Amino acid sequence: MTVESPLKLVINGKAHELSVSNVDTLLTVLRDDLGIKSVRRGCDSAQCGSCTVLLDGKSVKSCSVLAIQVNGQPVTTVDGLTVGNCRRSLQGHFAAQHALQCGFCTPGMLLNASEYLDKTPDPNPARIRQQLRGNLCRCTGYHNIVSAIGLAAKDVDSDKPDSESFCTQSGRVEDSRLLCGEATFTDDIELPGQLYASFVRSEVACGKINEIDLSALQDLDGVSEVFTEQDVLSDGLMPPSCSWQIMDVSGEPMRAKSRPLLSSTKVKYVGQPIAMIVATSRKVAQQAVRKIKIHYEESRAVTNLDSALKSRPVHQTLDSNTAFKWQLGDEEAVEQAFSCAEHVSAMQIVNNRLIAAPLETRAANGKYDEATGRYTLYATTQNPHILRRVLAEEVGIAPEHEIDVVSKDVGGSFGSKIFVYGEECLCLWASRKLKAPVKWSATRGESFAADIHGRDHLTEAAIALDKDACITAIKVNTLANLGAYLSPFGSLVPTYNYAMMLAGPYSISNVFADVTGVYTNTSPVDAYRGAGRPEATFVIETLIDNAAGELGLDPCELRARNLVQPEQIPYQTPTGLVFDSGDFPAHFEKAIKRAAYFSFKERQQESLKQGKKRGIGISNYVEACAIGPSAIAGVLGADYGLWESATVRFLPTAKLEVVTGSHSQGQGHETTFAQVAGSVLGIPIEDICVLHGDTRRTPVGMGTYGSRSLSVGGSAVVLAAKKLVKKGRVIAAHCLNCQSSAVEFASGVFKRADGEGQMTIQEIVRIAYAPHNYPEDLEPGMEATAFYDPKNFTYPSGTHICEVEIDPDTGLVAVVNYTAVDDFGAVVNEAIVEGQLHGGIAQGIGQALWEHVKYDSESGDLITDSFNKYAVPRAEMLPSFDISFTETLCEHNPLGVKGCGESGAIAAPPAVMNAIYSALGERLSMPATPEKVWRCIKKSAGSA
Ligand code: FES
Ligand code: FES
Repeated sequence: MTVESPLKLVINGKAHELSVSNVDTLLTVLRDDLGIKSVRRGCDSAQCGSCTVLLDGKSVKSCSVLAIQVNGQPVTTVDGLTVGNCRRSLQGHFAAQHALQCGFCTPGMLLNASEYLDKTPDPNPARIRQQLRGNLCRCTGYHNIVSAIGLAAKDVDSDKPDSESFCTQSGRVEDSRLLCGEATFTDDIELPGQLYASFVRSEVACGKINEIDLSALQDLDGVSEVFTEQDVLSDGLMPPSCSWQIMDVSGEPMRAKSRPLLSSTKVKYVGQPIAMIVATSRKVAQQAVRKIKIHYEESRAVTNLDSALKSRPVHQTLDSNTAFKWQLGDEEAVEQAFSCAEHVSAMQIVNNRLIAAPLETRAANGKYDEATGRYTLYATTQNPHILRRVLAEEVGIAPEHEIDVVSKDVGGSFGSKIFVYGEECLCLWASRKLKAPVKWSATRGESFAADIHGRDHLTEAAIALDKDACITAIKVNTLANLGAYLSPFGSLVPTYNYAMMLAGPYSISNVFADVTGVYTNTSPVDAYRGAGRPEATFVIETLIDNAAGELGLDPCELRARNLVQPEQIPYQTPTGLVFDSGDFPAHFEKAIKRAAYFSFKERQQESLKQGKKRGIGISNYVEACAIGPSAIAGVLGADYGLWESATVRFLPTAKLEVVTGSHSQGQGHETTFAQVAGSVLGIPIEDICVLHGDTRRTPVGMGTYGSRSLSVGGSAVVLAAKKLVKKGRVIAAHCLNCQSSAVEFASGVFKRADGEGQMTIQEIVRIAYAPHNYPEDLEPGMEATAFYDPKNFTYPSGTHICEVEIDPDTGLVAVVNYTAVDDFGAVVNEAIVEGQLHGGIAQGIGQALWEHVKYDSESGDLITDSFNKYAVPRAEMLPSFDISFTETLCEHNPLGVKGCGESGAIAAPPAVMNAIYSALGERLSMPATPEKVWRCIKKSAGSA
């Protein structure tokens, strides 16, 4: 029974009195009742640390404390850290070290670190990592957080005054608001008359719904409405469909089944939304969900790839679970190469199922304005414009021009927020039905069950080598788990994204891929960081390592022998790609040197003396990013174009607005895009504001995914800025009495080539907006828009080398050294690029060692439904990383950039797994958990 009690709290020095229920947590009171949004909700179950506050000076997870337990105690949130001036140096070091990306975890990290530094004046990195074990960060890989805290420790007693702008003394433009608790994530938005949604979800993996019993809701005050599938259908709403059309080998289109917005008669995976409850508070909406009883007629679930093709169809209208069978390459030539091979290495390779698990769960807040007839959806999304288009064109909410999509700060994504999900569509739709804004934020359990999952391949793979150990062919037969429905890019990821990369950076003439997309009773599978490229890299890097072992060659030697050489560039792969730039031996040799590869045996001996097994593993990769041009994407099956737009606008006071269709989820676009525009126009980034994530400000755009933002979106910014330079030159020529061709522009100054006069770009802008003495026929104003459609993919590449030490008594694998040398083309902001790499490597190590979405093979229940069961890497589980670069410029975009967001997640899994193989002499499947490693060691010892 709940009882209301009075509560007094002093929060950041200010007294608050309110009445709370005896079951309310401190987090609920701070965030929901008092509106202190800097206290973040990442799990609500004491597993992520996002909600950390200081309670009487001690850091606690506010979701794990009942509010009435802390009556009268002082509470400090990150807002108080700023006000109190006690840790300004800590926040400054976070900014300077680039220790935050999306910033969702940052308030909790800062508060934890703040208390720690009070107690520990001289911490070492290992102790800092231990201290942070309760605080998850999914973006940074912790490397820079550990550095920032270590440096802040040295500053603690400093009496130097902090300036008001401490957060922006160095670091990114966006850091100030993220460090000071002033960011606005979607769940932070509360609108007048706000209602709250919660979803009734399937508890069974496969079944018919006989009854939805709502009778218990009669006793609950505050429920506004219950919507079921019938309501949605009677309003004519349709689910978002797959955006990439794949032809089956039979010549027929793929057999696409779209995920319904609500499914109130049949369910096909645990977590599928059945009904939507809307109530006057989040608490009531969630209580209502718990009270509703669903009566199912359950059927046997299909979850495993190896049995799915023989099992009953997930969709009764199909005769099997095959959504498509697709092939790439010349099968005959490959078979011929295999028949002539001196050596063939073949094996089964499993790519484990993952979830992106950004710290901010998905959220949406829909608002319909009756007066104007306009809809506004606030949402966690990577691409507001695609969301708007799908809401209009596919779901049928309203015409596109009547919908606005606004996405403010987004707390990480890694692919999971590309897609249009039913929940956000329904919040917007329900806001019109109920004449009030409707907000929904996923719980962590909902996120595990209903977000898109990634990977999940089962592959039979083989490579053929000639007498000189040159690889002549590779072939794969892959089953790709699609989940219960075909997600928007569910068909692209295991086909083109995967198969086109199977030759990696190696000179292999023949490739053949046979891919079967398979329906199962699981959450849909789609793009997760890398999206097909990690799966391909894992196949080739495992095969090549395995072949080296079988041939008695050093894996380094076999790789070196087969790399595409710089003189072969531009290089056409057998899968149809053309590498326009790259020097694969350059990063390979540099990595081998930096990792001290050839002195590994000495380190291995040292480990042996400590009773540990040590191994070293290499991984080479090349990635195809920034899919384009649109014409090629169309031929491959894309429904949309893959360009990006930018508007670059000088305001009359010569300050600059850069408006981009790309959208950041922690990548730092407000900084990098300002750098790009500033370098073309010669103005400081303090004078530039980057606008994104809002269809009201950006007319059109395609969003952020596939490492495309800078190479495609940034290139659009360059083109638009160059249009302004061109216009400025005409104005300058008029004012300086010369021909335009006689005006030079550099570093923000237009000069006559003969040295007889010059004007700054700021002077030109003022003239453009006060065109009193102005070139005839030239439009006033200083604004330009450009669209950029890439001429080719970009091809980042690199070599990663991992060294592990294994404790045979526990099976624990410690990554002790990690070296990455990458070629991302031109690097615009080194700290941001390194940060992206750190985060990607952390996720890749996570895949190799701990992460695995698991369903019960009998019931189809989701086993890994929390951070306690799905092991996102924590600070103490990861090492620091040695990062360096080589550089070959992309030949076809104006920045020479290639993209860096996915590389770490692509390269790390094979590097780690090859290191484990080097240590154990046995190949394990991912994740190589301590239990699996321990059993392997025991088995080997037993058979020895
Ligand atoms: S929200 Fe409290 S620990 Fe995650
Ligand atoms: S910066 Fe830590 S979760 Fe994004």
